[in-house]
Amino acid sequence: MIQIANGVYRMTFGTPEAFTPVGILKPRPRFEALNALPDCPPPFREDQIRFFSRRGSVTLELPLDPSEDLYGLGLMLKSFRQTGLKKKLRTNSDPTADTGDTHAPVPFCVSTAGYGILVDTARYASFHCGNVKKRGSRQDREGYPSAGTQYGHWWVKSGSGNLFIDIPAAEGVTLYLFCGESLKDAVARYNLFGGGGVFPPLWGLGVFYRAYMPGDQKHVMKLAKELREEEIPCDVFGLEPGWQTHAYSCTYQWDSERFPDPDGMLTELREMGYRPNLWEHAYVNPASPIFESMKDCSGDCYVWDGLVPDFITEKARDVFSSHHDAIRKQGVSGFKLDEADNSDFTANWGFPDFASFPSGLDGEQMHTVIGTLYQQVMKKPFDDSNERTFGQCRQSTALASSYPYVLYSDLYDHADFVRGMASAACSGLLWTPEVRFAGSTEELIRRIEAAVVSPQTVLNCYQVPTPPWRQWDYEKNMRGELLPDCEEVTATVRELLRFRMRLVPHLYTAYYRYYRDGIPPVRPPMMDYPDVPELRDVSDVYMIGEGLMAAPVVYGTGDRKRVFLPEGIWYDFWDGTRLEGGRFFEKTVPLGQIPLFLREGTLLALAEPLPCLADDTVFDITLFAYGEGDCSCTLIGDDGHSCDYLTKPPAEILVTATGNTYTVSTPHPRYRIRGLKRIL
Ligand code: GAL
Repeated sequence: MIQIANGVYRMTFGTPEAFTPVGILKPRPRFEALNALPDCPPPFREDQIRFFSRRGSVTLELPLDPSEDLYGLGLMLKSFRQTGLKKKLRTNSDPTADTGDTHAPVPFCVSTAGYGILVDTARYASFHCGNVKKRGSRQDREGYPSAGTQYGHWWVKSGSGNLFIDIPAAEGVTLYLFCGESLKDAVARYNLFGGGGVFPPLWGLGVFYRAYMPGDQKHVMKLAKELREEEIPCDVFGLEPGWQTHAYSCTYQWDSERFPDPDGMLTELREMGYRPNLWEHAYVNPASPIFESMKDCSGDCYVWDGLVPDFITEKARDVFSSHHDAIRKQGVSGFKLDEADNSDFTANWGFPDFASFPSGLDGEQMHTVIGTLYQQVMKKPFDDSNERTFGQCRQSTALASSYPYVLYSDLYDHADFVRGMASAACSGLLWTPEVRFAGSTEELIRRIEAAVVSPQTVLNCYQVPTPPWRQWDYEKNMRGELLPDCEEVTATVRELLRFRMRLVPHLYTAYYRYYRDGIPPVRPPMMDYPDVPELRDVSDVYMIGEGLMAAPVVYGTGDRKRVFLPEGIWYDFWDGTRLEGGRFFEKTVPLGQIPLFLREGTLLALAEPLPCLADDTVFDITLFAYGEGDCSCTLIGDDGHSCDYLTKPPAEILVTATGNTYTVSTPHPRYRIRGLKRIL
């Protein structure tokens, strides 16, 4: 076992494969930040790990205590706590069951005992999280109770064995151990090892609207103007496949019939305060100007008749990113990186596991890393021009926390969509519960509520010409019929999106901590309160930054929300009620309200809502101080858009409220404090 940083260890068993996530993705660990954390010993000795091989695969057995719970393994939409479950981690675009098929498999799991394990493999590894009890094992001999059951919940999901990790087609593997005081600490160290979390541009924290797919330039401009006239906050205006001459596969070229003047349109959108974003996937169509150059640096199978770039090769990276740099220069702020996943259960598109790539990877390995490599390549033009970007992606894996892309899906179950935020946070990922359409006003509003308190607020309205708050019914929307009460629905949506804009300063600090310390900006409360058994299965409530707990109503569960508030004093944001924690609270939640709770001592900085954010935006802040004592918060002051924060740390402005006055450590032009309200 080799120590590589404070609390981070590496162990190798057998002969690892030539291609693994660490080798391929080349993370740049934030060693300074890691070594500024206290050192801590590994949770077990190397000789407590068993390693054995069988017919072309290797298996590891790691000790697991019955009191431990395991989380992580990537974006899991159907489960959160992994104890007692088994997952075969495989990239998939349409996972319907809780098998480990996911947009973002991450061979990293993290324990409530305060450590995390990264298994450095690009294979479809299986994790048996305590669901296997071997005959003659310690658990068998000593009659251990089932793992995780000491808290008496979900007996069907519990096991009683060790953690077994099974890796096909390998003769060995390297493990990285991240140790800390708590699960949150282990996740943070894992994220720092990957380079820290992403720090998006300020505008990336506003609202994303993705426009009707077949819409042309006229449609786009009409919609963009309407959003401004209707005072619907929106920062990022996204175009879907229709902008290209051919989209499945992609040419990455403007369709001049639908978009006769893309430069003019992009300039106009920019002048209106929008950041244009373009949809694409990585499969290169024969009619694309880069097709010829990509031929010898792509895999041996097509997807939708397009080449699958081998982004491990320098040539594929250069050709692809230079072409996109030209598009960026036209005024594009970012991209939506679609379909780097793989369809096994529905449409069956994708390259096979037996595909081969010039770099030497096979299809199985490429499925694991392609989305993250794609993110690297698409981020490069922005890095090179010293601009931050923020977009969406549909495939990701280990060590991707620093990339400016948030996962989304074509699936739509609302409970799964809300749950995704919890599992993503334990795996170094970000997830958006995007809103597309709805079957009722209630569904539309509940979905928007959750999106407002998520890592990225995306209204993906690519299927309908008119925003869904004017008509959520697909057929009627297509016919141009509006909801009879569309003004009221629009007003509710406007207020919700304004609330997102009020939260931006708080979110910006939370994201900066993701970069600086590796702490996920939106995370399950179990991370902050690991010793509270009632929170171990909670995946529909989350902490946002410091001191703020959001509990959006999941559509389909009625209008009641049950929340467990940990020990201590909490305040209900909406009516200021003082609540003594350590128990469950239940409340009726009117449509348009997101239940929010503030921990005593929190100073919440809320901004006056703006329609969109500019580089020189000045926030008018009202401070809300919870409880009698001193309350404080930190605000982040920088230019909001460049990559300078990587070399020159932004100003960390400490704001402290004492009684009815406040002090600001270093005033910054980004923030104008307008007043303080104390909630007792
Ligand atoms: C899907 C994607 C949708 C939308 C659509 C356009 O793959 O998930 O959000 O972009 O493609 O064809």
